[in-house]
Amino acid sequence: MKNFINKKVLEIPPSGIRRFFDIIATMDEVISLGVGEPDFDTPWHIRESSIYYIEQGYTTYTSNSGLIELRETISKKLFQEHYLEYNSQDQVLITVGVSEGLDLALRAILNPGDEVIVHEPSYVSYKPCIIMAGGVPVVVETKLDDDFQLRAEDVEKVITKKTKAILISYPNNPTGAIINKDNLTKIAKIVEKYDLLVISDEIYGYLTYKGEHTCFATLPGMKDRTILLNGFSKAYAMTGWRIAYAASNRDIIKAMTKIHQYTMLCAPIISQKAAIEALNNGYSYMKSMIEEYNQRRRLIIESLNKIGLNCFKALGAFYVFPSIENTILSDEEFAEKLLLEEKVAVVPGSAFGDCGRNFIRCSYATSLNEIEEALKRIQRFFERYKK
Ligand SMILES: Cc1ncc(COP(=O)(O)O)c(C=O)c1O
Repeated sequence: MKNFINKKVLEIPPSGIRRFFDIIATMDEVISLGVGEPDFDTPWHIRESSIYYIEQGYTTYTSNSGLIELRETISKKLFQEHYLEYNSQDQVLITVGVSEGLDLALRAILNPGDEVIVHEPSYVSYKPCIIMAGGVPVVVETKLDDDFQLRAEDVEKVITKKTKAILISYPNNPTGAIINKDNLTKIAKIVEKYDLLVISDEIYGYLTYKGEHTCFATLPGMKDRTILLNGFSKAYAMTGWRIAYAASNRDIIKAMTKIHQYTMLCAPIISQKAAIEALNNGYSYMKSMIEEYNQRRRLIIESLNKIGLNCFKALGAFYVFPSIENTILSDEEFAEKLLLEEKVAVVPGSAFGDCGRNFIRCSYATSLNEIEEALKRIQRFFERYKK
């Protein structure tokens, strides 16, 4: 039989994270600092209200764009938090996770061969999604020396006639970096100068431990040029509900909705109801989760540095990205041996782009007790493999 698989799909390498999860699945008693998912259950008030709505028979499709009540609530929140005005009728689209929002955004704007600038290390899905949407990812490396912040001058260097968009993702997965407003403002000027769009994945926006998160669309001239993606998976511990939203100008939301209506129809109604509850009543519980993450963050950074795995001061998301340069191992070897010898799962930095090679990603979306135990094991492991 001939090979029926699409060429682009064949060319995309499998996710570097998956391989580790496949090994973990065969082992007992692993402490996982590997997952990118909150260890908290979805807050009870959200689950309870959803049970109520299931009982009431909320089991149908909704409009393609999503429940108007949810779009209005999102629109109100964006105004309250960022003074951003999005019309709930035609500038907000409810998506099945930021994952779907990202795919829709890319497919809505890209013609074959269009380039999308993406900074690395970054979330594993970006490059594959750009390729599958017919685009060409153009990587800009971010560096430890710059606290993994994207620099406008590095962006400008790779702009060509084919550049259509920049995909920006802060707070960042895997580095935990946040980006300051100054840098974002410089990037915004370049976006204007070269007539580009920005896809801004702000899924970790609430998980900012110092200062305020800057929403890219708030920068001068950027609202209409930004496709803002945000969702409920991380801040509200709602990964399994698959619920998120996109906000942008009318033309872009219309184009994204067109794809969404033929491929997805709508996001699950019960998850949309849950999202309304999260936005209306979820703030204090979310804050308490953030405080807990922050406590863990301080502990893990301090301890890794003491061990000798130099760890930059990550101020966002729930990841730290220590360097393994003081060991004799590559990032892949480090992650694999640590898993097999000490039963601690971390992710090799190169899973997030070549420039992540000398690092590993540790998630602190794991209980404090488990983190403490994992750190003891990492210390033992480090003593065996240090330079
Ligand atoms: C940066 C980033 N964007 C998007 C996602 C996917 O989010 P969702 O669950 O809303 O699809 C993740 C998940 O890990 C992520 O880290």
